[in-house]
Amino acid sequence: MRRTMVAGNWKMHGTRASVAELINGLRHLALPGGVDVAVFPPFLHIGQVVDGLKGQSIQVGAQNSAVEPAQGALTGEIAPSQLVDAGCAYVLVGHSERRQLMGESDQVLNRKFAAAQACGLIPVLCIGETLEQRESGKTLEVVSRQLGSIIEELGVGAFAKAVIAYEPVWAIGTGLTATPQQAQDVHAAIRAQLAAENSEVAQGVRLLYGGSVKAANAVELFGMPDIDGGLIGGASLNADEFGAICRAAGN
Ligand code: 13P
Repeated sequence: MRRTMVAGNWKMHGTRASVAELINGLRHLALPGGVDVAVFPPFLHIGQVVDGLKGQSIQVGAQNSAVEPAQGALTGEIAPSQLVDAGCAYVLVGHSERRQLMGESDQVLNRKFAAAQACGLIPVLCIGETLEQRESGKTLEVVSRQLGSIIEELGVGAFAKAVIAYEPVWAIGTGLTATPQQAQDVHAAIRAQLAAENSEVAQGVRLLYGGSVKAANAVELFGMPDIDGGLIGGASLNADEFGAICRAAGN
């Protein structure tokens, strides 16, 4: 049985004061058992969040990490080993904002994924199609290529200790959500691609949906058989809304 997971990607949001307020809100949430909850603050606030959430059942992750596991001469980057030292358990790999705006290629992401795992971090691999790709019928081809890149480079076994987030680019921050059936169809295809290589890995890996998830649509999405939780952007900046999404995942 897969444990559901709800992850909050804070993106490039927060000041010391707003983060303190959000931590306070998170500390007061009644979180359901059986759901893994994690938040992904900007690098700058990771220490503050790790300290502020001490003793809580909420884990912390980073939104990005370097292509090399160890510290070194790489100005402006953060090594996965430094993230472990700071108290992180997870790291996002390949969020569409980084693929599109920062030009991160599958080759670079393969290295980031491997470097994270080498340090014991759990990578959350983000994959998903643009609106143009969906409208031209290329959704499954795009997602399969993004997933296949890691499988080819690192082997399907790499997903025994990873999470996958399907985030259709057209649903991110737009208020447009994939219907539960649209999301389920892609999740089922992702699991089938993994199962063709290793059915145990395919059955064990958590597949999160991301893209305009809110408390109001979470129950229906999380009710689909291959949706094991969510990667939440905007709604994760509001502790009460985030808590309600976590409770939806616990149902
Ligand atoms: P929104 O929930 O704001 O659409 O963002 C989703 C996302 O990109 C999470 O990584």
